[in-house]
Amino acid sequence: MYTAFLTLGLATATAALATATAKTPNTFSPGFLLVVHVTNPDQDFTPSVNNAAVNSIHAGPGFRVATISPALTDGHVFYQNGTLDQAEDGETTVLFDSATPPTPFGILVQDPSAPMDNIAINAGPGSYNSVNGDPAVNAALVNGLGEGTYLVCNATVPYYHQNFLTLQYAYEGEETPEECVEVELVPQCAELNELPPGSHSSHEHALSVRCYEDATVVDWS
Ligand SMILES: *[C@@H]1O[C@H](CO)[C@@H](O)[C@H](O)[C@H]1NC(C)=O
Ligand SMILES: *[C@@H]1O[C@H](CO)[C@@H](O)[C@H](O)[C@H]1NC(C)=O
Repeated sequence: MYTAFLTLGLATATAALATATAKTPNTFSPGFLLVVHVTNPDQDFTPSVNNAAVNSIHAGPGFRVATISPALTDGHVFYQNGTLDQAEDGETTVLFDSATPPTPFGILVQDPSAPMDNIAINAGPGSYNSVNGDPAVNAALVNGLGEGTYLVCNATVPYYHQNFLTLQYAYEGEETPEECVEVELVPQCAELNELPPGSHSSHEHALSVRCYEDATVVDWS
């Protein structure tokens, strides 16, 4: 009887896995992609930006603007940098390596007192960001500077005098602009590469974060 019960349970779990991933992942990795989850599908762009990956475009020396790409393979591999104490205090930053030799570029969200703008990814540490470690809710990027929501916006990048789908952040109380949709940035586990000798980057303080094996098949219901 007991064996039959166990077998049945396993079969059910396997069937569920084929269609959707649980909202609270139990996998961990130091490297991760950030995948766009459109919070309200009715507000989505056409074509949809759901399941696009976060990357960035050059916008001056040491300066990049956070953008999205429909192909996950074009996404940046990010890592959460800091000590365990910093993680506990919400004082980690989220970096990716760019340039030669590899140099850390950090996600930089504007201060709550500053006007809404495209999120920068600049050489250096960036602002406080972390992947939510609370196993009671889904894993997502959290802005350590204040509550609010990440956005994907059809916005001008002044460096190019041209529109791109960029990342922005609206603090609580700030209205979501017409040309933006509210999103969550969901971590998908990815391999953090070894750094060549002479790198300016270091993965010594890359913390292990909660991430999805496949962020595109999460059951959000
Ligand atoms: C990463 O975290 C370590 C530990 O706090 C710190 O020494 C280092 O400067 C950080 N790297 C960046 C690029 O901020
Ligand atoms: C972004 O806005 C421009 C100008 O209004 C428009 O031409 C373009 O189609 C929009 N792009 C998307 C993806 O909505």
